Amino acid sequence: MFDAIAGRYDFLNHLLSAGIDRRWRRLAIRSLALTGRERVLDLCTGTADLAIAARTARPSAARVVGVDFAAAMLRVGREKLQRRGLDASIALVRGDATRTPIATRSMDGVTIAFGIRNVDDVAAACDEIRRVLKPAGRFAILEFGVPDAPPLRAAYLWYFNRILPRIGRIVSRHHAAYAYLPASVSAFSSPDEFVTILRQQGFVDVSAVPLTFGIVFLYNGRRAG
Ligand SMILES: C[S@@+](CC[C@H](N)C(=O)[O-])C[C@H]1O[C@@H](n2cnc3c(N)ncnc32)[C@H](O)[C@@H]1O
Repeated sequence: MFDAIAGRYDFLNHLLSAGIDRRWRRLAIRSLALTGRERVLDLCTGTADLAIAARTARPSAARVVGVDFAAAMLRVGREKLQRRGLDASIALVRGDATRTPIATRSMDGVTIAFGIRNVDDVAAACDEIRRVLKPAGRFAILEFGVPDAPPLRAAYLWYFNRILPRIGRIVSRHHAAYAYLPASVSAFSSPDEFVTILRQQGFVDVSAVPLTFGIVFLYNGRRAG
């Protein structure tokens, strides 16, 4: 599915979020408190926007590896890296987020933007994050939520369930991909449940911060030292 929509994916991301997705990515990278020396792994990297944000932040990560199993998404990402002269410091690798070719305890940070709800085996992805992180290494995960406040919640659900899939279908010319988006968000754990999962998976200092009234949550935590 992601291969089929890769060519329109970035445009739709920015359109459907009114450009706020860039801010969410910046906040996720800022939460890693980079100093300029870190190696960061971006799982479910897609077209590499979060990988690029990690490398272009100030201070930035020294080296970023992005992993995704959709070849067409990575192809769009590679074109962006070449255009921006970032192909020497960001490597994009085709692979599964639950079984990466990354060395154990080699990463200072791991990020995932809007990818964890798509992973079949969330526990296996958490295992993989813990395996590749150095002791005390941090993760930052962005995932959709649903605003709590009643009037906003109703308006948002109307947009998310009714309008967004229609715009997505017309622009991407894929009949199912943007209906899958709200369906996959409602099928995913609530923020409290996901925090519990992350703690059960052995991470410490786990937090969930709502962004933009809870449309998105930023999850942070770290591997025990
Ligand atoms: C909604 S996109 C997010 C892309 C990017 N992180 C962003 O912020 O725009 C989700 C991505 O997760 C990838 N994905 C889902 N499950 C995966 C898995 N098990 N291993 C690797 N990539 C996966 C898909 O191929 C897709 O590119």
